[in-house]
Amino acid sequence: MRKQVNDYDKFAEQRHYDVTNGKKLALLYAEKPMMLSMLPDLKAKRILLLGCGTAEESELLSKYNPKKITGIDISEKSIAIAKESYPNCDFYVGDMLNLPFKEKEFDFVFSSLAITHVEDKNKLFQEIYRVLEEEGEFLFSVGHPLRFATEKINHNGKTYHVIGFEKTTGHVLGNYMSYRKQVNTFDDNEVLEEYIAPPSYYFETLMNNHFTILNFKESRCVDECKEVDENYYNRFHEIPQCIGFLAQKK
Ligand SMILES: C[S@@+](CC[C@H](N)C(=O)[O-])C[C@H]1O[C@@H](n2cnc3c(N)ncnc32)[C@H](O)[C@@H]1O
Repeated sequence: MRKQVNDYDKFAEQRHYDVTNGKKLALLYAEKPMMLSMLPDLKAKRILLLGCGTAEESELLSKYNPKKITGIDISEKSIAIAKESYPNCDFYVGDMLNLPFKEKEFDFVFSSLAITHVEDKNKLFQEIYRVLEEEGEFLFSVGHPLRFATEKINHNGKTYHVIGFEKTTGHVLGNYMSYRKQVNTFDDNEVLEEYIAPPSYYFETLMNNHFTILNFKESRCVDECKEVDENYYNRFHEIPQCIGFLAQKK
């Protein structure tokens, strides 16, 4: 049977359980530590969470004393869970390409591992620019191509994720530079379409849409992970899972 792609509703409840119970290692030990290390001052800021899912990230950001947190996600089920779990925030079901908000309604837009699902990044960045206040900031993460643009090959009964080339034939494994759609199946069997791109694509597209780039990072699994899952730590301490950008409307 063919698995359904982008069935965010189906996985919403499981996702909420996994994140709140420390089972999403990528978020807990690589992506969120990177994102939190890139935060600007959020005191009294109006925050928009873009593609917030079940919005556990609202709890992380509420510690920084923002004025208000608003979240939006295309999954009705995720937003229903978010509303029930985090009643101090406002949540909306909607498409990040057509935000139901006025110009300059937010000081900060935060988006974790979500914009990768949208193809038209120019339209998306224009929409984010529109809802941001002058000098407002936009922090986002997406998968790193070194992790997601690899090809799987079998060698001695083991599967390797490889990116590189064979010199004599010019045969290339993986696809680092191209902007392209890829269908990924994750450990929990969730199947998601993502648009994979190198960091240079994001630098260029942000600058073309009048953002100034303030910071760029590649995630590295933090030491706390070692005791929980050494195999995971070894892989993602050296191979980055995600990239993060902090950009400003100028
Ligand atoms: C990998 S989850 C990330 C959720 C959350 N930000 C986190 O880090 O736990 C990606 C989210 O993007 C949402 N999404 C995908 N396409 C979207 C779109 N066009 N507009 C709004 N949300 C979208 C999905 O419903 C899903 O909840």
